[in-house]
Amino acid sequence: MSKSYNVAVIGGDGTGPEVVREAMKSLAVAESKFGFKLNYHPYDFGGARYLKTGETLPDSAIEEFRKQDSIFLGAIGHPDVKPGVLEVGILLKARFALDQYINLRPVKLYRTEDCPLKDKEPKDVDFVVVRENTGGVYTGVGGVVQKGTPMEIATQVMIYGRPVVERCVRFAYEYARRRNKKKMLTLVHKSNVLTHAGDLWVRTHKEVGDKDFPDIRQDYNHVDAATMWFVKQPEWYDVIVTENLFGDIITDLAAIIQGGLGVAAGGNINPEGVSMFEPMGGSAPKYTGQNVINPIAAIVAAGMMLDTLGEHEAGAAIEQAVTKALNCGKIKSLAAGRMGLGTSEIGDLVASFV
Ligand code: IPM
Ligand code: MN
Repeated sequence: MSKSYNVAVIGGDGTGPEVVREAMKSLAVAESKFGFKLNYHPYDFGGARYLKTGETLPDSAIEEFRKQDSIFLGAIGHPDVKPGVLEVGILLKARFALDQYINLRPVKLYRTEDCPLKDKEPKDVDFVVVRENTGGVYTGVGGVVQKGTPMEIATQVMIYGRPVVERCVRFAYEYARRRNKKKMLTLVHKSNVLTHAGDLWVRTHKEVGDKDFPDIRQDYNHVDAATMWFVKQPEWYDVIVTENLFGDIITDLAAIIQGGLGVAAGGNINPEGVSMFEPMGGSAPKYTGQNVINPIAAIVAAGMMLDTLGEHEAGAAIEQAVTKALNCGKIKSLAAGRMGLGTSEIGDLVASFV
């Protein structure tokens, strides 16, 4: 009997449902070609539901998600909802409740013309950022006193424990080993200033590497320098590991050097539990329903989902299909409205290459 997987699907807001629909075309081809079945379980969480019911992501949904094999998310963000409500209430809640402690962000340029960097080609922009996804300032540890007074003080602490750092660093080393390219793990931090929190990462990176990953080269960048090197010499990198907030910032820079949000995808991963995959672009309300949004990031996210489910060949096939579709001459640009093809035509095109 062929394998089957249960996937919770949150189309979400704006163009989210459109790009999810297109990703499912490539997934369907992969299912029949590689002999597995995906059972989709749709959920309507997002801005519209919040405005109607006041609910973001109820605990009951988290309990249901725990029984799924994966979660596929389109986009969250609604023009009528105050910024932060849906991000914290849905995205961050899922990350924390399901302990999705890795944010995996492959950074791959599929074709030269999409890169804003001079003289860089696909072979130069091909690395992966492993961002710690539940610790640091995102924990919200801190507080405020004398709020609203001239003497107000607020803190938000970059809090990290050794186990949280170590599980992330181990994941990154293992990823570098499985990826089997340069076999180098670059730690990105700011250890020259963050002499406590940074030092914990530096020692963990070294100790875990020395002991269990002698085959993986150890490398280190300060985060400010990393932003320069991303632009100047992206070909240096293989796998990067970093703490949560630094990772949030550098992965947006990384997204633009790979061609932008039209192709950037990410996974919120709990290696022992239920993971959630999403295109990095937002809900793009002004493009909703116009068949102009780029679905490729969602398709890449779908490939990552298959890889994480253990369907490595199928995941690789989707990634190759994206590369072929982008290099067949039919897609003019990655930007919404300028692609030369509609959302659904690109979905069909990529699926035809799977
Ligand atoms: C991301 C996003 C989120 C983050 C926001 C929406 C909470 O920017 O996934 O990178 O900061 O992690
Ligand atoms: Mn971000």
